[in-house]
Amino acid sequence: MIYAVILSGGLGLRFWPKSRKNLPKQFLRVLGEKTMIENTVERISNIIPNDRICVVTNNIYVDKINEILKIKSSNIFKEPLNRETASCIGLAAIKLLKRDFEATMVVLPSDHFIQGQEEFEKAIIKAIDVAQDGDYLVTFGITPTRPESGYGYIEVGDSIEEGVYKVKRFIEKPNVDVAASLIEKGNFLWNSGMFVWRADRLLREIKKYLPDLYKNLMRIYEYIGTPDEERVIREEYEKIDGISIDFGVMQRTHRAVVIPTNFVWDDIGSFTSLERFLNKDENGNVISNCEAAVLDVKNTTIIGEKRLVAAIGVKDMLIVDTDDVVLICPKDRSQSIKDLVKKISNVE
Ligand code: GDD
Ligand code: MG
Repeated sequence: MIYAVILSGGLGLRFWPKSRKNLPKQFLRVLGEKTMIENTVERISNIIPNDRICVVTNNIYVDKINEILKIKSSNIFKEPLNRETASCIGLAAIKLLKRDFEATMVVLPSDHFIQGQEEFEKAIIKAIDVAQDGDYLVTFGITPTRPESGYGYIEVGDSIEEGVYKVKRFIEKPNVDVAASLIEKGNFLWNSGMFVWRADRLLREIKKYLPDLYKNLMRIYEYIGTPDEERVIREEYEKIDGISIDFGVMQRTHRAVVIPTNFVWDDIGSFTSLERFLNKDENGNVISNCEAAVLDVKNTTIIGEKRLVAAIGVKDMLIVDTDDVVLICPKDRSQSIKDLVKKISNVE
């Protein structure tokens, strides 16, 4: 059977101070009326029924998820610690295998913006077919529009069937210069961060490329459904060195294929990506969620809450005002927000 696995444990640090440790990006109404995680569930609902939609998240977000979504509690896979995506996807894989040996997982980040429902559904249905029929890890390719260093890059190889190609190379988070050179080559796509695969096949790849994690997962597997499950998950998580599925598996596997897609997609990963979806005034300023009084201000993004934000003579800046924190940062330094947050634990 087919299951959605929604990843919802990230802290959304680059979105601070809007996103906080207790209320990360996926629980915010970043664009539109609904939270990003609600949009994620809705988007997949035509393909996967509610009782097969699962969320893998940190213990601290379980109440929030119950408040926002109607997901049965056995479909919320709880993590005691943040150990990155190879672990959380691995945990979801063994939880599903315990109940269904033929489980196919549609892995979806909880914090993406997607437009083009029909195209999205077509791509997912195709991916499910490919993952169930062949021995493949399926990715979705997005046409790159800028040398983004926060994404994975997929080199498109030979076609295995219409609209599906072998992944020749997978390069996770190259620096901007490398990213620009890949885009120039013309046969690279962005990795969307969504994946489709059979749980058993994913685990086989984890065994091959992340053998320590595989051992941790196998010990947990033994205890699933027993009163000791939570304790053993914590014990094993304490031993895990966190690594993402992209660095850990996708860069190394020979079994990856890519389906190029043409829906509108963005990982609203930072304020810089958010502003692409907001209206700009004649000076290139974006003013969102607040009133602002500006004089000689150019190419500046102001995201507020309640107060009036006033600025004079600034250029290329990001100003984010919340109840208890004001952030002021040149736009080209916005990737450093996460480094700053790590220093100030009291307002995480
Ligand atoms: N449960 C859980 N536990 N979820 C996690 C964890 C964890 O430890 N760490 C991250 N997540 C969730 C995040 O909430 C997000 O929904 C998803 O997993 C992906 O993590 P990100 O941290 O946002 O990854 P990324 O954006 O840097 O990179 C990935 O996505 C890009 C596209 O958005 C990679 O797959 C890239 O290759 C890809 O281009
Ligand atoms: Mg992301």
